[in-house]
Amino acid sequence: MTLCTTPPERTSVTRPLDRVLGARLPDPPDALRRGPFREGSFPSPLHTERRASRVGVWLGSGFVVCFLTGLISHWVQQPPSWFVWPASPVWLYRVTQGTHVMVGLALVPLLLVKLWTVYPKLFSWPPARTPAQVVARVSVLVLVGAAVFQLLTGLLNISQWYPFGFSFRAAHYWTGWIAVGAVLTHVGAFAPQIARGLARRGTAAADGEGDGEEDGEEDGAVSRRAFVAAAVLGTGAVALTQWGQTISPLAQVSVLAPRIPGYGPQGLPVNQTGAGAGVTETAVDPAWRLVVEGPTRLELTLADLQAFPQHTERLPIACVEGWSSDADWTGPRLRDVLDAAGLDRGTVVHVESLQTGGSYRVSTVAGPHSASAKTLLALRLNGQELALDHGYPVRLIAPNRPGAMQTKWLARIAPGAAGVGS
Ligand code: HEM
Repeated sequence: MTLCTTPPERTSVTRPLDRVLGARLPDPPDALRRGPFREGSFPSPLHTERRASRVGVWLGSGFVVCFLTGLISHWVQQPPSWFVWPASPVWLYRVTQGTHVMVGLALVPLLLVKLWTVYPKLFSWPPARTPAQVVARVSVLVLVGAAVFQLLTGLLNISQWYPFGFSFRAAHYWTGWIAVGAVLTHVGAFAPQIARGLARRGTAAADGEGDGEEDGEEDGAVSRRAFVAAAVLGTGAVALTQWGQTISPLAQVSVLAPRIPGYGPQGLPVNQTGAGAGVTETAVDPAWRLVVEGPTRLELTLADLQAFPQHTERLPIACVEGWSSDADWTGPRLRDVLDAAGLDRGTVVHVESLQTGGSYRVSTVAGPHSASAKTLLALRLNGQELALDHGYPVRLIAPNRPGAMQTKWLARIAPGAAGVGS
């Protein structure tokens, strides 16, 4: 992603466009060439095509990785009819969504470095010579806008701060398409500059741009070494202070991570508490029953659930926000309870919570997960009775599933169509 705003060379893409548009735009009056538009306003030798292309490769690749891992998260939660998400390996979603947020976070300093490298080009004169060049400039604005929107909303979301009045998921999802579309358009439109930039070797002089001495300092200009150090330190700092939420060996140094594996009630972080879900009374009500709809309708007490064969599985909670943490869960297998209700193995079921509202009140357990021996109705966590904040009296825990869909405070299980109520 080069963000070059130098008017693109006439390539096979723009020639017909120029011909269609054809017009040579009049140059704006020189009197307007003030401030940053003045010749030589940006003396630093670092605003080079070579540097822009190299950082651009990392940035572009990072956006594609974020888009693909984000798309997986979307499909897992809202599966199209052809999409089947497996129940194993148990760690797959942990890796895809962990990667999503880790790479997304690393893109923040990279984008800043990139914008710094190219921002003088925003002031090149004249701003555009042809309508095609106007379109190219607009595509750069769309790209920058979408990129900043994705990173900003993502950051706010994982910090659990929602100042925006719109649905994060919907806006982040659709802007993801715009961002990736803009990246691909940009790479296509500026392919010659990218190729030239990447082909350049060694020194600033080799750039043919900027007349600074190699690694030399110019008055007030940032040296090449300082530039590279800033980029590496910035990304490194983000990695160290944030990635511990996904890579547990880094947990001790990840001081800015919103969640740390192993920290929280019963050794596991909590996103939604019992009080926040409005279940502090209903979850401890002696009249509570888990209703299982089926040929044989069941109304199970906690004792009934404890009477089923109990199994223990070590499974991660892998949050959509990128953090994840392992725990030992004990309880009956979901498939054994469905069997007792006369439902076939692998039946798609809807799992409903006592929770009073929220988009995760109901989740769908598709065939591979409902048939899996590892999918439990957990009554105990890390050897203790489930705490209220972890879903007492009983919660769903399945392998390879987003944390938000590991429904807590269960009230009812009923057969249903795949993809609905996730
Ligand atoms: C700092 C960077 C980023 C962070 C922290 C972040 C965070 C997140 C989070 C928390 C989700 C899960 C939403 C949910 O299921 O509730 C998500 C989903 C997603 N993200 Fe990002 N993201 C970042 C950057 C990006 C970028 C750069 C792109 C694409 C270019 C992207 C595309 C997506 C998509 C398509 C989804 C799926 C949304 C859905 O489930 O409908 N994200 N992201």
